[in-house]
Amino acid sequence: MNISVRVLFISLIASIVILREIRAREAITPGPDVGQIIQEFDGLHIDGTGTALERASPCKVDVQKDLPQPNQVQPLYLRPNTTQYWLPNAEGQLEIPRGSAIELYCGYDTMAGMSTGLESMEVKCLHDTHFEWDGSKLEFRKFVCSQSINYTVEKMESRCRGIRALDQSHLYRVGYDVGDGRFVQTMELCHDPHTLRTHYAFHQMSPASVHYQMKVKRSKFRPAGHFQGYDMEKIYSFSHQQSLLGGSPGELMNQKTGMFLARGHLVAKADLIYASQQRSSFNYMNAAPQWQIFNGGLWANLEDATRKFVANSGITVNVYTGTYGQMPLPQNPSVGLHLATDANNRNVMAVPSLFYRVLIDKAQPRRGIALVGVNNPHATLAQIHDSYVICDRIEEQVPWLRWLSKGNEKSKLSNLKKGYLYACPVSDLARVVKELPSNLLEVHELLT
Ligand SMILES: *[C@@H]1O[C@H](CO)[C@@H](O)[C@H](O)[C@H]1NC(C)=O
Ligand SMILES: *[C@@H]1O[C@H](CO)[C@@H](O)[C@H](O)[C@H]1NC(C)=O
Repeated sequence: MNISVRVLFISLIASIVILREIRAREAITPGPDVGQIIQEFDGLHIDGTGTALERASPCKVDVQKDLPQPNQVQPLYLRPNTTQYWLPNAEGQLEIPRGSAIELYCGYDTMAGMSTGLESMEVKCLHDTHFEWDGSKLEFRKFVCSQSINYTVEKMESRCRGIRALDQSHLYRVGYDVGDGRFVQTMELCHDPHTLRTHYAFHQMSPASVHYQMKVKRSKFRPAGHFQGYDMEKIYSFSHQQSLLGGSPGELMNQKTGMFLARGHLVAKADLIYASQQRSSFNYMNAAPQWQIFNGGLWANLEDATRKFVANSGITVNVYTGTYGQMPLPQNPSVGLHLATDANNRNVMAVPSLFYRVLIDKAQPRRGIALVGVNNPHATLAQIHDSYVICDRIEEQVPWLRWLSKGNEKSKLSNLKKGYLYACPVSDLARVVKELPSNLLEVHELLT
């Protein structure tokens, strides 16, 4: 054994003695034996003779298989002492080097097979899906929260970045306040509290996004402290919409065929990876009235396609998903459709005529693409060409958007009810949609 290995070995033994002491004081469950700890300590592997040293493989926690059960509350998985989620790799595995710690935050009682009373704990990777906490070796899925963690939607000081429109929009952040001035953000919203319109939602997607956690239950939408004076449940109810749209029953609206206005997610549930992130998407500010037949039709295809594109191209993208315009009343096109009025009887909660999604390559921020979809199942193709195409279409130039023209063809056969989509250069859309951050005016290169 050479000197440096001997020194290391002695320090390992010292650490084990300390671990043993902790265990003796707070015996929980049997810990690993000494030999095992030596082999697993700090990512080093010592073979039987104690002479050979090599880097051991990291812990890998599969997002689908190795997290707590859907009926349990999972902690926030954080890079220790930061505001960042520890996101999975491109294979959908949370990868933590041996001997390194991940922070698990519950805010209340983080449990390790039993109650600890701790807001947050750091657990250290031993091997595979096994982690060390307080001298015990536990499966990663054993760390759960004793009660649900609540996300918040906070109004920020700043107005929407580079906003050029003269309205009263503000930036809001959605996420978890984890104390000590740390806020773990899941998305950012540009919202006008006076008209109740969310111009856009901002979030990031990476190749890991395609591995979003499945089987996370849909939550109930929450106003999260906003929308005071409005009964959001009622505003989105079918009977309320029917009273506004009029027409004979089944003519303009039909619950069975998806002809009603749903709470259309801007940041989709499935755009977010962990259950805690997904839950935070169910806030009313991250939604806008969207025809369900379009929401579940071409818009859902667009969401899937962007996730797959990001995964296949191995890039991280900044995503702006927003709303534009106002859908006209089918029977009186000079009047715009809205779902509520404010205390002064002014129209609020406009039904947007368009939903859009802008993708920007994070590493090359002049590269991007804008996708736009029509939110009006009653519009004819001629009306769409006249009034709903607001930028220069380029989808023919983009190989990964081949599905889009096909989707439009299929939709045409079913009277365009499933929606109608097209693509534009980002700078072109940003010239029209003035609420988008002004730096998007510089995004001329196509993300293909
Ligand atoms: C995080 O901060 C705590 C408290 O300051 C400290 O004990 C811990 O070692 C830090 N963790 C890491 C991984 O730096
Ligand atoms: C989250 O909100 C619920 C209902 O408002 C409340 O009962 C619960 O205690 C809150 N949880 C935490 C950790 O604050």
